[in-house]
Amino acid sequence: MNRVKSSIDKKQVVAATGLFLILFVVAHLAGNLFIYGGPEAFNGYARKLAGLRPGLYFVEAALLAVFLVHLDATARLVLENLRARPVGYRQGHSAAGGSFASRLMPWTGAAIVAFVIWHLRDLTFVDRAGPAGILPDGRGYGLFGVVYNSLGNPVHGVLYIAAMLAVGTHLSHGIQSFIQTFGLVGEHRLPAVRRVSNGLGILIALAYSSIPVYVQLSFGAFK
Ligand code: HEM
Repeated sequence: MNRVKSSIDKKQVVAATGLFLILFVVAHLAGNLFIYGGPEAFNGYARKLAGLRPGLYFVEAALLAVFLVHLDATARLVLENLRARPVGYRQGHSAAGGSFASRLMPWTGAAIVAFVIWHLRDLTFVDRAGPAGILPDGRGYGLFGVVYNSLGNPVHGVLYIAAMLAVGTHLSHGIQSFIQTFGLVGEHRLPAVRRVSNGLGILIALAYSSIPVYVQLSFGAFK
């Protein structure tokens, strides 16, 4: 009984922290879409965000803490499920016994962790006033230039799109899982929840992936 209760607690922790991360992913997407407005619009948005410091440091620290708690609770839940499962059970059943996206959760999750570490090194911890922000026309474009130099590289472009597919697939299960964990809708509405959740996952993956595609197509304008 205690084991069942502690699993439910962990599930709620995973779901609540997951919601916070989903909100970040959606807000981050909205900010990144300023890239379509060109260097002024994108750098203007980044400047406005930077203007929110030092309050922004608090949000970033909270985001990191939530991310780590999400990983920790997920890892504990997976281990608990593996221990509770009778020997041989896994041979005939999927890990979650659910959809393709739900079975991929550990893999898409691991891919997102790897992506975020690489992504921060790629775009955040760089000197945007230095060479990383200079485009082939010889001018410095700040953060806009940093993004273009990275996503304009075909290998980076493909890696970004692969990571965005992992994010979309993870969210397509994560959103419905959150709603189910907190019992926000009745059993009879679950098929509709699954459809909406899958649709949102696809939409987020497509909207994010459109950015590296657009950068690749428009990179020539800065030569
Ligand atoms: C095409 C897709 C993406 C682009 C172009 C992009 C762009 C950026 C840029 C330019 C920054 C630096 C912002 C700044 O320093 O002002 C950044 C930071 C960050 N990105 Fe992304 N991003 C993308 C996708 C993602 C995704 C899918 C995630 C999460 C799964 C993510 C997580 C983060 C995090 C955690 C930061 C650090 C935020 C902070 O320091 O406040 N990014 N991204």
